[in-house]
Amino acid sequence: MLTFNYYGHACFQLDDGNYKLVFDPFLTGNPAATIKADEVEADYVLITHAHSDHIGDGYDIIEKNNATVIGIPEITDFGGANVKTINMNLGGTLNLPFGFVRMVPALHSAGIPGGTPCGYVVGIGGKVIYYAGDTALFSDMKLIGQRDKIDYAILPIGDHYTMGPEDAAKAVEMLDASNVIPVHYNTWDIIKQNPEHFKSLVKTATVLIVNPGESLRLDEEQYKRV
Ligand code: NI
Ligand code: MN
Repeated sequence: MLTFNYYGHACFQLDDGNYKLVFDPFLTGNPAATIKADEVEADYVLITHAHSDHIGDGYDIIEKNNATVIGIPEITDFGGANVKTINMNLGGTLNLPFGFVRMVPALHSAGIPGGTPCGYVVGIGGKVIYYAGDTALFSDMKLIGQRDKIDYAILPIGDHYTMGPEDAAKAVEMLDASNVIPVHYNTWDIIKQNPEHFKSLVKTATVLIVNPGESLRLDEEQYKRV
């Protein structure tokens, strides 16, 4: 099995039945959040950058779950001495018990001195998932799509702080992704978007609109909602 559990804004969990990966766990103060930070289960927490709407409750969740943090050193250094840490940097690939994690570039600001934002390509449950983090459209997305056949791209569409629907639709094309799940919109008015508009712009992939609190099986043909 492979389940995508959307918790709101840019926070989601991938669960392959054995391992739970949580991405950008901003829940406290997140008006779109559908779960409290102390309810989140995680084996690994992957953080794309240090803006508060991404690093969020990360270290509380990591400590409560005895989870491993994955991120650039400038972010993993926030963890105390007892936190299990995997620091990596752009271009690196990790082989982990569930599959692999490749850290890829993102075009944004880091939220921390000396840092860089990133995205992740994750192999889990027989699927390849690309989570862009916060980013503008950039032409090297084409290389990301050539390196791995992306089954699911999880892309921001909110505009203002990241690419908006038009650029995100172009990103889907450059990535040659099979499916796309839009995130990072409608959390606040400043990033208000109609996901149906985004869907109408995407001609090269299946757009899966998932609302906060909803879950989707990624390993089944019919995209069963659970
Ligand atoms: Ni950001
Ligand atoms: Mn953000």
